[in-house]
Amino acid sequence: MVHSIDQQASKKLPSYSDQRASVSILGSTGSIGQSTLAVLAAHPERYDLYALSANTRVDLLLEQCLTWHPNYAVINDSSKADWLAIEFKKAGLSTELLVGEVGLDAIASDDQVDIVMAAIVGAAGLQSTLAAVTTGKKVLLANKESLVMAGPLFMTAVKSSNAVLLPIDSEHNAIFQCLPQSSLSDSTKKTAFTEIKKILLTGSGGPFRTLPIREFSEVTPEQACSHPNWSMGRKISVDSATMMNKGLELIEACYLFDCKPSLIEILLHPQSIIHSMVEYVDGSVLAQLGQPDMRIPIAHALAWPQRMSSGVQSLDWQALNALSFESPDLQRFPSLAIARQVANDAISSSIIFNAANEVAVQSFLDNRLSFTDIITVVEESLAKIPSSEPSSLIDIKTVDEEARRIAGSIIACL
Ligand SMILES: NC(=O)c1ccc[n+]([C@@H]2O[C@H](COP(=O)([O-])OP(=O)(O)OC[C@H]3O[C@@H](n4cnc5c(N)ncnc54)[C@H](OP(=O)(O)O)[C@@H]3O)[C@@H](O)[C@H]2O)c1
Repeated sequence: MVHSIDQQASKKLPSYSDQRASVSILGSTGSIGQSTLAVLAAHPERYDLYALSANTRVDLLLEQCLTWHPNYAVINDSSKADWLAIEFKKAGLSTELLVGEVGLDAIASDDQVDIVMAAIVGAAGLQSTLAAVTTGKKVLLANKESLVMAGPLFMTAVKSSNAVLLPIDSEHNAIFQCLPQSSLSDSTKKTAFTEIKKILLTGSGGPFRTLPIREFSEVTPEQACSHPNWSMGRKISVDSATMMNKGLELIEACYLFDCKPSLIEILLHPQSIIHSMVEYVDGSVLAQLGQPDMRIPIAHALAWPQRMSSGVQSLDWQALNALSFESPDLQRFPSLAIARQVANDAISSSIIFNAANEVAVQSFLDNRLSFTDIITVVEESLAKIPSSEPSSLIDIKTVDEEARRIAGSIIACL
């Protein structure tokens, strides 16, 4: 993982100073995908865009292809493929069009690809992200859900393929930057971790940090998607409003940093300037600060182990009145207690937690479920499905499908 990337792995990476790197973006039409393109656009001398992908937003995918002329484009929704193929032909584009999961796997694992940005939202990103990891790419991981669902399988694949896994979630990227450099080697990892007292995983508290709890049941999708600090896709925006996102991040951090949930404290920081911290046994606390703009972790991970411009403005210290912190209210955000329990449970619990949440969030966004019932669906799904330890991709997908079926039936009864 992240802190256990060995030197051999970093040596095989193309360094931007001497060699161009070829990039595939899984989910290029999303919020992270578009921010990635913005960073790449600022560094045309360092990166070649190899492939782009979308689920249904075919107009935007076409626009991106016309701008970037990638070797491949993948559209997941096969009903849009014919239209896109005709548009490519009309425009004289040489970009080859691929369709569905097979196409995503291909652009994630192609020999010509050095870097894969895994920015598909939800469980839909698991297989292609795993394909990138298994083939030893430098993988920029935005799709936290794949790690939550398949942590042990995923991290084993990272180790055996010598893939380089770099976190894009701003919090995990910050923790990565604050961890001791010595932890970049597997052999010294244990020593490094005895030096760490605590990982402080920060979160803004989302749009409802101060909303009276009695008003939660009336919350609309538009309100839930209006994050005070970050501009993001709709699913992660709702996850931020329930703080389910922080729960998923807790589980993600345990796998990425190979640590127990008890090492990680969740801390609210409404201004989203500090992106997370690491406290050492001597009382030193290292923090990573910056504007709440995803181009920063994206540029960090693209250039790692070097640095390059992200295009984001410097912090204006005079304009920062105060940085405040508070403990999360577990009555307001029950997702945090559930996530901590899940992080200590069997792997099936993480899969169910993620799948039930995805189904519930989609129902909420479709106005078929209340905001407060998102948590009810997750809790009831966890209670209904027996624990297990699926270890293969097929078995993980089986638990995921079962959890989606159960969550759907719970929603139908609410
Ligand atoms: N946004 C942020 O600031 C942020 C920060 C940290 C982590 N993340 C994580 O990054 C990931 C992406 O988030 P986002 O906010 O960028 O999401 P988003 O804006 O909703 O974009 C999701 C991307 O995935 C594609 N996609 C959706 N369903 C798919 C499917 N079934 N098959 C193939 N592709 C599919 C979408 O295509 P269409 O456009 O065609 O729908 C789009 O390109 C999530 O895991 C999220 O938790 C996001």
